[in-house]
Amino acid sequence: MALSPLTRGRTLDHVAAVYDALSPLMLFGQEQRMARPCLQYIRESSVHAVLDVGCGTGTLTLEIAAILAQRGGTVVGVDAAPKMIAVARRKAGARSNVRFDVVAAEALPYGDESFDHGLSTFFFHHIDFQLKVKALDEAFRVLKPGGSFVIVDVDTPTSLFGRICAWSGYYLFKQEEIRENIEGKLRLAIEKSLFGSFKRVAHYQGYVSVFQLSRADY
Ligand SMILES: C[S@@+](CC[C@H](N)C(=O)[O-])C[C@H]1O[C@@H](n2cnc3c(N)ncnc32)[C@H](O)[C@@H]1O
Repeated sequence: MALSPLTRGRTLDHVAAVYDALSPLMLFGQEQRMARPCLQYIRESSVHAVLDVGCGTGTLTLEIAAILAQRGGTVVGVDAAPKMIAVARRKAGARSNVRFDVVAAEALPYGDESFDHGLSTFFFHHIDFQLKVKALDEAFRVLKPGGSFVIVDVDTPTSLFGRICAWSGYYLFKQEEIRENIEGKLRLAIEKSLFGSFKRVAHYQGYVSVFQLSRADY
C-alpha cells in the first residue's frame, strides 16, 4: 500500500473499513441529494477530465466515472489516506476511466491546466485555514482556464437544526477545522485563494452549502 503523504489534514485511514456504512448516518441519508449539483454539472457540461479532491472511498468519483464513460472522459480521485484509496480502488474494479491516487490536496502532483473541472465533497472541514487556501490554489493551478470547481461542505449554519448539526459535529469530533467552516472561514479561504470569489448555488439542512468557483478564462 502507498505511504501516507505528509499532511496536517485529518485523514480517515482509521475508519476506512466502515466509512461507507457510517457516512449516510452522519448526513441523515442526504448525501445523494447534497452531491446532486456536482453530478448535474458534469452531466450537463461537456467536461472530459475531472478531479475529485478528498475523494474518500470514491463513491461519488465512481458515479462521475459512469457519466464520463459515455463521452470518453476520465476522473481522478485523490485522498491522503491510503486505506480510503484502497477501498476506492477495490470498488472501481476494472473500470478504465477512473484512477485513484494517494495524494495530499495541498501538493497535487499534476501539471498546470490538466483538468476541465474539479470538485470536493465534505473534504474542506478536514483541513485548517492555511491548508484550505493552499489546496484551493492547487486546484486552481491544475484547472484549465475557464474550468470550474464545486465544493460541498459544512458552512455557517442558517437554521436551528443546522446549528445543532454543525456544532454537534464540532463537539463530537473536537475538530477545529469544522469550527472554522461554521465561522465562515471556508468562504474566507476561497476569497484569499487564486479563485478569489464564489457563488453559493445551494444550501442543505441549514449547514451544508454548495459553492461554485471559476478559474476565469483569460
Ligand atoms: C469526510 S471525507 C469525504 C470523502 C468523500 N469526498 C465523501 O464525500 O464521502 C474527507 C476525506 O478527506 C481526506 N483528507 C484529509 N486530509 C487530506 C488532505 N490533506 N489531502 C487529501 N485528502 C485529505 C480524508 O482522508 C477523508 O477521506
